[in-house]
Amino acid sequence: MKNRVLGNSLEVSEIGLGCMGLSMSFPPFPPDEVSIKFLRDAYDQGVTFFDTAEIYGPYKNEILLGKAFKDMRSKVIIATKFGFKYENGQSVGLDSSRENILNALEGSLKRLQTSYIDLYYQHRVDPNVPIEEVAQVMKELIEQGKIKHWGLSEASASTIRRAHKICPVTAVQSEYSMFWREPETKILDTLKELKIGFVPFSPLGKGFLTGTVKPGAIFGEGDFRNTIPRFNNPEYLEANMKLVDFVNNLAIKKSTTPAAIAISWVMAQGDFIVPIPGTKSLDRLKQNLGASEVKFTQEELKAIKIELDKIKIIGQRYSEVNEKQIDK
Ligand SMILES: NC(=O)c1ccc[n+]([C@@H]2O[C@H](COP(=O)([O-])OP(=O)(O)OC[C@H]3O[C@@H](n4cnc5c(N)ncnc54)[C@H](OP(=O)(O)O)[C@@H]3O)[C@@H](O)[C@H]2O)c1
Repeated sequence: MKNRVLGNSLEVSEIGLGCMGLSMSFPPFPPDEVSIKFLRDAYDQGVTFFDTAEIYGPYKNEILLGKAFKDMRSKVIIATKFGFKYENGQSVGLDSSRENILNALEGSLKRLQTSYIDLYYQHRVDPNVPIEEVAQVMKELIEQGKIKHWGLSEASASTIRRAHKICPVTAVQSEYSMFWREPETKILDTLKELKIGFVPFSPLGKGFLTGTVKPGAIFGEGDFRNTIPRFNNPEYLEANMKLVDFVNNLAIKKSTTPAAIAISWVMAQGDFIVPIPGTKSLDRLKQNLGASEVKFTQEELKAIKIELDKIKIIGQRYSEVNEKQIDK
């Protein structure tokens, strides 16, 4: 697989792997040994960029990555995230205080069985801690060699600018797909201008764009999509099927799969973009990596944009509680 560069110098496979689903949001979760083998299989398929977070599990996902990659640490790029506080092992809100970051980092290093994190993201902007203070902590951690790069997730353009002034930001990770295009108007120009990489999460629209979520879908207990209006409201799900049909038709035209279309379209928006689709299955992973083979001409991209602009997506992408944590 080809590589792309995030920020000035972080070289990663042009498609990464979102590891969250192995421990959170999309149950059932595979047994640990199955997940560990899957992570190593992903590396064998050419993936070098693995996305996790302290909160995935909490903690369990980082432990899996630690076990999977301890004997090949220098061959993979591991991104993890801080920014929540915990009571009895459960997240109870945002906390990007210096003390909480330093504690979180020590925990992540231990679980990941490593002496450094390649890319350390603030998971959500904490309204109680100025971003300059967080950036200052990141600067110190980079100087100490404990982290190589840092980033933000779901941050606004103004927060990104303020952070970047104190300590250069390598990547911003936010939701972006044909199902959620807000970054196009809110942050992409800023990222291009500042030469910051962009890592779209949920590039498959949490599975929606693959065509496997049908109208009337019932999600299992603990599935994150039960909390999301776009998924838990049958009317919205039905109305938004227009987009699934559009992606499916494109896949037929380009002789590929809807998943590969969704991922390659995100990649076609700029060479500073590296999506991290999530899956627990090797077959689906191979399908997703097929996105590398799909190319669009400028004319095709223009035509797709015109069609996407016509498809009005209905329903929120997050519950009210989750939406409140988004930096505007
Ligand atoms: N920074 C943040 O706040 C944030 C938020 C959410 C996610 N993330 C990161 O982004 C990663 C990806 O996002 P995501 O998992 O929310 O959404 P996603 O990648 O858009 O979609 C994942 C869903 O699609 C299914 N899927 C994957 N490939 C498929 C295929 N080829 N055909 C059919 N279905 C397929 C998966 O099921 P199977 O697993 O069963 O294949 C899973 O249900 C996460 O793993 C996580 O690392 C970050």
